[in-house]
Amino acid sequence: MIEFLGNWKRSHYCGGISAADVGSEVVLMGWAHRRRDHGGLIFVDLRDREGLGQVVFDPAVSVETHAKAEAIRSEYVVAVKGKVIRRPEGTVNPNLKTGEVEVLVSECKVLNPSKALPFTMDEHVEVSENLRLKYRYLDLRRPQLQDNIILRSRVAQATRRYLSENGFLEIETPFLTKSTPEGARDFLVPSRINRGQFYALPQSPQIFKQILMISGYDRYFQVVRCFRDEDLRADRQPEFTQIDCEMSFIDREDIISMMEGLIATIFRETKGVEVQLPIQRMTYQESIRRFGVDNPDLRFGLELVELTDLVKGSGFKVFADVAAGGGIVKGLNAKGCAGFSRKEIDDLTEFVKIYGAKGLAYVKIENGEWHSPIAKFFTPEEIASMNSAFGAEEGDLLLFVADKPKVVNDSLGKLRNQLARILGLADKESYVFVWITDFPLLEWDEEEKRWAAVHHPFTAPMDEDVDYVETDPGRCRAKAYDLVLNGNEIGGGSIRIHQEQIQSLMFKMLGHSEEDKRAKFGFLLDALEYGTPPHGGIAFGLDRLVMLLTGSDSIRDVIAFPKTQKGTCLMSEAPSNVDEKQLRELGIRTTAK
Ligand code: AMO
Ligand code: AMP
Repeated sequence: MIEFLGNWKRSHYCGGISAADVGSEVVLMGWAHRRRDHGGLIFVDLRDREGLGQVVFDPAVSVETHAKAEAIRSEYVVAVKGKVIRRPEGTVNPNLKTGEVEVLVSECKVLNPSKALPFTMDEHVEVSENLRLKYRYLDLRRPQLQDNIILRSRVAQATRRYLSENGFLEIETPFLTKSTPEGARDFLVPSRINRGQFYALPQSPQIFKQILMISGYDRYFQVVRCFRDEDLRADRQPEFTQIDCEMSFIDREDIISMMEGLIATIFRETKGVEVQLPIQRMTYQESIRRFGVDNPDLRFGLELVELTDLVKGSGFKVFADVAAGGGIVKGLNAKGCAGFSRKEIDDLTEFVKIYGAKGLAYVKIENGEWHSPIAKFFTPEEIASMNSAFGAEEGDLLLFVADKPKVVNDSLGKLRNQLARILGLADKESYVFVWITDFPLLEWDEEEKRWAAVHHPFTAPMDEDVDYVETDPGRCRAKAYDLVLNGNEIGGGSIRIHQEQIQSLMFKMLGHSEEDKRAKFGFLLDALEYGTPPHGGIAFGLDRLVMLLTGSDSIRDVIAFPKTQKGTCLMSEAPSNVDEKQLRELGIRTTAK
């Protein structure tokens, strides 16, 4: 029998009753999480977003109500009226917020039944992610996900409050827009009214926020959805949310200190963690040299060791040839890992091959000596100097990659993280931040045979490097910065080009023809000529930030309705086919089967 709410009003959340309520009459409403039949008494854990509250049905209180309780199954929606009592001695549950009390039920309404569930709500049972995503509405009921989504909301609130208090205006920018290049593919939306033409969903509000600075709004922010059609990974989604900011009449230091305040506020208000300010900084070059990557995880050491000069004259041809050909040789000392099996070392070798390495030479330090297929190629002096470079000790495993600098740094940088995972080097409870600064402005794209912007085309070169933009592009540093937390890039920004001539030059360097430049960015180039203030900004990846704050392994666990790695929504089954009629209206025919 289904009952109606009638005039019942909820008095407390199920997870909100406590010893302070003992003796009060309460009305709780929620989902039946678990039901236990103890002969006479029936116990139901009622659940809502605030947690679990135990309610007790005693036939001595009401036979009719007790009979209703017998019919309650998992996830039935139930309302109860009753009195809060202390749990009897020995039945207190210290693991539960409400564990000292229970509600002795006098009246009960079953507001809605539930079909048998496709998976259990029990947090401790592993459920396949595809099943969870198909029944996302059930998955989202699970306490872990509810905690994540609630924390996410608190992060957004803290952000809005901090930025508003600091004079930032929240201004919306369009979704149906023209492409802004951030390095990914655009999602396109066909225009019905302008047949054959397309909007692009924004990869970020970059150009619009700059235009707002030109229009004099001075400080802007938006918690905004961005869309990027790229290959997905554990920390990427095709639509994701940025905390997007822009400021006028400022330099890099102003932005960095303002944003450190934001990060500290978020961590204090949502986690009770005090972030030590100022956050340490490292140049891009130093980061690559010491850690191989521009998003170093500084919770552990395991730094890369430079060996090129030590091995360039050696008898090991692989290393000597690479060094002679302009490549580099670097290594990692996996402390205490000399006991790794053949298989374990083979796995590491396969791992570095993903990043283009041709091999992974290794040395085990056992009984004070090098044990390695490559030991015979080196003189005792060379071995001694490498030992000292590595800080090698008994029981260590030395790993080497020789190749072009990019391959060596990429592969060893990723191997460093992989070893840290294997060896459990990173403390899960600690948050280590670093600003990476002085990025290169441009990098050579081998595939496209042209220069590409490392951050985006609107990023300003460093004043002292402006001349290199044309003469020696690879050498030009940018006024760009990233914030990295525990090895994750959580934000990135830059001071922008605010002069039309430099912006035009930048587009030229990126290979845009005069025509192309006008067609794509004419409005920005025009706007830059009407009194543009110096300005700059940053955007944080809200999803990534919340992923780290909640200790989640996947970005999908902090997004209410995420997409799979294939860009699909298993619940709504998007993307899907559309009617022939819709396509006709849009003037579109598909070639896909
Ligand atoms: P950028 O492209 O570095 O900068 O993006 C800023 C931050 O957004 C997050 N992020 C993502 N999160 C989840 N899924 C994705 N696919 C994804 N892509 C990026 C990252 C990243 O640090 N307009 C510039 C900002 C600026 O210059 O002000 C921009 O979008 O955490
Ligand atoms: P080889 O001479 O090819 O038998 O390689 C000897 C050892 O050096 C093996 O352990 C290879 O994995 C390793 N090796 C080969 N090429 C490289 C390279 N470019 N960098 C580092 N190690 C390499």
